[in-house]
Amino acid sequence: MTRIGFAYNQKPEKATVGGRIAGAPRHESRSSDDPPSPIPAHDDVYAEWDAAETIDAVANALSPFGDVIRIEANEDLPHRLRTERPDIVFNIAEGLHGPNREAHVPAICEFFGVPYSGSDPFTLSLCLHKARTKDVLRAHGVATAPFAMIESESDLASLLSHESPLAPRPTTDAPMFLKPVQEGSSKGITERNLVRTRDELEATARFLLSTYDQPVIAEAFLPGAEFTCGVLGNGRTARVLPLVGMDFGSLPAGALPIYGYEAKWVWDTPDRPLDMFECPARVDLRLQHAVEDVVLRAYRILGCRDWSRIDVRLDQHGTPNIVEVNPLPGILPNPADNSCLPKAARAAGLSYDALIQSALAAAADRTGVHLDAPVSVRTPVRTATLVA
Ligand SMILES: Nc1ncnc2c1ncn2[C@@H]1O[C@H](COP(=O)(O)OP(=O)(O)O)[C@@H](O)[C@H]1O
Ligand SMILES: [Mg+2]
Repeated sequence: MTRIGFAYNQKPEKATVGGRIAGAPRHESRSSDDPPSPIPAHDDVYAEWDAAETIDAVANALSPFGDVIRIEANEDLPHRLRTERPDIVFNIAEGLHGPNREAHVPAICEFFGVPYSGSDPFTLSLCLHKARTKDVLRAHGVATAPFAMIESESDLASLLSHESPLAPRPTTDAPMFLKPVQEGSSKGITERNLVRTRDELEATARFLLSTYDQPVIAEAFLPGAEFTCGVLGNGRTARVLPLVGMDFGSLPAGALPIYGYEAKWVWDTPDRPLDMFECPARVDLRLQHAVEDVVLRAYRILGCRDWSRIDVRLDQHGTPNIVEVNPLPGILPNPADNSCLPKAARAAGLSYDALIQSALAAAADRTGVHLDAPVSVRTPVRTATLVA
């Protein structure tokens, strides 16, 4: 029987996201006009890790194809890999520590010569660093918002004092958007991250620098529509799943048009799911192709493998820009949780299990690993044209 190692990080039982952890500072509202958002500022420590429900659902989807051996991605993982000797590892581990955390499990698999699903350590580390990702995309002529990096207080001071054309000068007409450079799941991305004045820029940059202990990326705010796009497969057969469009009109009155921490973790609950996703997004074919093209170009240039989810927004000219690339995509199984890759898969006629199995099949094909059962999921989605 094929031995499928399954690597994951499970959220501690008591961890909450969108609830308060004792001692965490609270976010302060910017004005009384703000929509209701009792956001604790740093209650997102485990936002990236998976719940038992997700881990069980993935293990269940993998089970027809071999013996599934659960390997929690903690300090014991290297030892377990050596003793369990899986034929392939299905990896969804987000990692424990440091800026290369998402790369650790694949790097250890590589070290032991064990094939694994998903992108390699280099791509995972690159994509977790939003600024380095944008550098690579820009070098290849892929549209992504102009940005500056703020690595320290002194960077901030010199950015604010210089009149250089590169210095961010947010205005009401051309606001900027600030983010911790190496987070995911909208950790550190709340409404206060959109800044229209130098004072707001300074306050938010200082808050992010001190709270998240990493550089801040200050980007031009992209004012247009937003899509998130699932990609499955490799090489010429990589394909974009139906686009998920964001309808920001369904956010609470006064909310900003962003899919940040509030929208992901506070306003969207299984009891009252946010109705802000349209899949397939109703866009004309020209825009659909433009989005698919930029997404597939980014996927290929960054070396993504098997699957990913890529965020896109339109700039002031209507051109699709890459916002960020997620080679370890969120895969919550309950449709009420509004996880976008499973949502896009459903719109393509792929069940949750078929989505997981497609990623496994792509990895097995790529690495020449035999699976116990043939994966019968050959997705019915149209293959988007790859722009050379
Ligand atoms: N430059 C930008 N312009 C406009 N909105 C942005 C920009 N960058 C991020 N956002 C908004 O913030 C959200 C979260 O940012 P993103 O980079 O995707 O971080 P995360 O890794 O947390 O998903 C995006 O989905 C988008 O709504
Ligand atoms: Mg995102």
